[in-house]
Amino acid sequence: MGSCLPCAATSLLLLQLAVLASLSAAGHRRYHSIFNFGDSFADTGNKPVAYAWYSLPSNVMRPPYGETFFGHPTGRSSDGRLILDLIAAGLGLPFVPPYLAHGGSFGGGANFAVAGATALDAGFFHDRDIPGAGSKFPLNTSLDRLMKHGAKSIVVPGMIPSGCSPPALTSFYGRAGPADYDARTGCLREINELASHHNSLLQDALHELRSKHPDAAIVYADFFRPVMEMVESPRRFGFREDVLTVCCGGGGPYNFNESVACGGAAATACEDPSASLYFDGAHLTEAGYRHVADGWLSSINSCLCAHPHTMKLRRA
Ligand SMILES: *[C@@H]1O[C@H](CO)[C@@H](O)[C@H](O)[C@H]1NC(C)=O
Ligand SMILES: *[C@@H]1O[C@H](CO)[C@@H](O)[C@H](O)[C@H]1NC(C)=O
Repeated sequence: MGSCLPCAATSLLLLQLAVLASLSAAGHRRYHSIFNFGDSFADTGNKPVAYAWYSLPSNVMRPPYGETFFGHPTGRSSDGRLILDLIAAGLGLPFVPPYLAHGGSFGGGANFAVAGATALDAGFFHDRDIPGAGSKFPLNTSLDRLMKHGAKSIVVPGMIPSGCSPPALTSFYGRAGPADYDARTGCLREINELASHHNSLLQDALHELRSKHPDAAIVYADFFRPVMEMVESPRRFGFREDVLTVCCGGGGPYNFNESVACGGAAATACEDPSASLYFDGAHLTEAGYRHVADGWLSSINSCLCAHPHTMKLRRA
């Protein structure tokens, strides 16, 4: 077994999150570091640096951002820890350092997530005339490319049910009819169907990738179902009944107003963020992220335990 340890060192691309892993003597996988790619759901501090380059407004360095866990704003778009932070903690690892706000040592992993990042290059949106989507921060990478660089343990999250997101609900408010809403949840049906469709195509693509790379562990991380569970049964999770209302915002039916940013003087923040699912718009509170992270951690643990690569090493 000891002679096999070097070949067991693998990288887990979790979420868009890569983790270097190795087997311990007991046969359990242990991760040494996480490499993460993503957007504001996973940005742990790149935003303030990257937005300053382009003189883009950024409010995340003002209270109440960070109030629940860090006690001060960190660049995260939440009151506390993100899914990535909770997963790192769950795997016994330190917080993943944001690469722009860090000394440049990537030995402990690195976080390349930037708020507003897109998976596809800006040209894709430009060519199709999709307004507002021409991100300055395309990820400009692919799982194929990361796997060529040695990623072996990969977690890829699906889409959140964006038909429940307060910014979407606000922009359709007064324009959508009763039939456009799911009567049970108050979410926009077609937008959620689009997210589900995206997720099923993504899972097909991951299936194909698994057959091309049989020695890699590729985990699909469900972002849709855990958020729907919280929207459907807010009380079970300690949330207020008006679960689609944001904690920190600028008034209106969902307390969300695009022109009144959380952190600004005109915004109001709730007393207890742990009683809200949505923090400042599409982003969740730490309390919301925790339920999602718990599910992803159990997917990571069960997939990697059952993975053929791991079993082969166990037999060795
Ligand atoms: C993406 O990366 C490639 C190099 O890998 C580079 O040539 C290209 O300009 C990049 N595209 C963008 C939009 O940054
Ligand atoms: C958002 O805030 C602006 C500025 O205070 C206001 O003019 C506008 O009516 C608000 N929009 C909504 C939907 O509440």
